[in-house]
Amino acid sequence: MKPETTAHPGAFDWSDEFLLGFAPMDEVHKEFVEIVGKLITAPQGELRASLDELAAHLERHFEAEDNWMRETDFPPRECHIDEHAAVMLSVRQVQSLLARAQAATQDDSDATARSLALALQDWFPGHATHLDSALSHWMCKRKHGGKPIVLRRNLSLRSGT
Ligand SMILES: [Fe+2]
Ligand SMILES: [Fe+2]
Repeated sequence: MKPETTAHPGAFDWSDEFLLGFAPMDEVHKEFVEIVGKLITAPQGELRASLDELAAHLERHFEAEDNWMRETDFPPRECHIDEHAAVMLSVRQVQSLLARAQAATQDDSDATARSLALALQDWFPGHATHLDSALSHWMCKRKHGGKPIVLRRNLSLRSGT
């Protein structure tokens, strides 16, 4: 049995490797993977709508995490909140590029939107591993008094180095 995947095979598939154990965060991360996958594979005519959907998702995603950090005085929150803001700024810049694009530059701006989606695909695993996972542990500890136990399905084993 394969790990659960999104409906867009080959674009950006969900992997249980991304599970961090704090359920509300894992849910929002599944949505993130699905929406970035949609942007990678969106037909040209749907790129703007797909990018707008991504921006709306990221607003909610980052606001939720920022609120968890602020409400619980999560100690290393500033760099995490700053990274969210930097990503949001890039997304807003690409949105305004697409909004301004004339027919002659449409192909360039479409390529930029897809590049943004691919950059987010590359960015997410590191952000999740280094920043979101610490927040997930923190939130689980506060809510349940311990670190999360994460059950990941059917991942290939890697030899330790
Ligand atoms: Fe996140
Ligand atoms: Fe985050």
